[in-house]
Amino acid sequence: MSHEDSLLIRALRRQPTERTPVWFMRQAGRYLPGYQKIRGETDFLDLCKTPDLAAEVSVEPLEVLDVDAVIIFSDILVPLEAMGLKVEFGDSGPCMSNPLRDRADIEVLNIPDPVESTGFVMDVIRAVHERVQGKVPVIGFAGAPWTLSCYALEGSPSRTFAAAQRLIYESPGDLHLLMEKIADTVIAYLRAQVEAGANAVQLFDSWGGMLGHEAFDEFSLHYCRRIMEGLDGCGVPRILFIRGAGNHLDKIAKMVEEVGVEAVGLDEMTPPEQALTIFGDRCALQGNLPPQALFAPQEELRRRVRELLDAFKDHPGHVFNLGHGILPPTPVENVQVGVDEIRNYS
Ligand code: CP3
Repeated sequence: MSHEDSLLIRALRRQPTERTPVWFMRQAGRYLPGYQKIRGETDFLDLCKTPDLAAEVSVEPLEVLDVDAVIIFSDILVPLEAMGLKVEFGDSGPCMSNPLRDRADIEVLNIPDPVESTGFVMDVIRAVHERVQGKVPVIGFAGAPWTLSCYALEGSPSRTFAAAQRLIYESPGDLHLLMEKIADTVIAYLRAQVEAGANAVQLFDSWGGMLGHEAFDEFSLHYCRRIMEGLDGCGVPRILFIRGAGNHLDKIAKMVEEVGVEAVGLDEMTPPEQALTIFGDRCALQGNLPPQALFAPQEELRRRVRELLDAFKDHPGHVFNLGHGILPPTPVENVQVGVDEIRNYS
């Protein structure tokens, strides 16, 4: 099978498919026993940098859940390390021991060559392809400039990302310099992933929704647009996910139309009807079961899955997904029940 004919890629291109494809955002990870075992013995970043192990963790959801795509195991912070930040993953989330403090810190950041500095990510993509042998497409990803700036400026996990929020008003030129550098880095990084074999790429702006409405245009949407444009002609579908952007769907839809972005990921805060009205069939839509729904009793979970499939049934490019990543204590059986219901839906 060519990847162009796969269920997921067809849906992302809004071509008719016999059923709704399914994959889950952040499908690998802490709720899976194979992942837990490997993580018990391996540091998180070492795991990202060991292609064989990272590939094994990437394909675990395919084996356990029978989803229609594999998302490579890595993290959005990997390119920040290549730019010059010291990234660590502690128990409470990612940290930088040298967060950016002033313009000079931003000026010295590299725009790294993706193959020289993060070639292990491309090796993971190739190693995953070797394992899946054309059965499903492989999805690459990166973080958007606003979300990556939040981490680079804050240094530790945060609810508010006050350091980045403050720079918007205090010294926007410095923030733009940082975001330009990140945007150039991310474009080259995603292009390298496509060259290594990624069959679709997803851009995560996980913290876009915390911006004020004007700042959203200038710091989230503008840079997402730049990256989507920078990937123009790369030959694979581009998926844009901006979390918390329910108040900005009109602007996102306009950008998607102008740039020709193939797919938009919806978070669980967005009512399907609203997304359908605003996006129409301009792009594929991916979403958006609340990850918490996977804790419901199984019959209730099946009902919610059907309800969501009903809501999107007239859309030519719906991809079933969660509104955000799977929560660590989620019972694996419940995720399997969810997939089973999607498979049996007609
Ligand atoms: O399916 C997959 O899990 C693919 C790999 C993947 C990871 N991170 C692995 C990971 C992907 C696609 C990401 C993206 C990512 N990373 C995002 C964007 C998506 C989103 O969730 O909004 C963000 C914001 C990050 C940054 C990050 N990495 C955080 C905030 C954390 C800690 C909290 C958490 O969600 O676990 C991480 C660590 C991380 N990245 C883990 C995994 C499997 C858990 C590490 C562990 O404890 O073993």
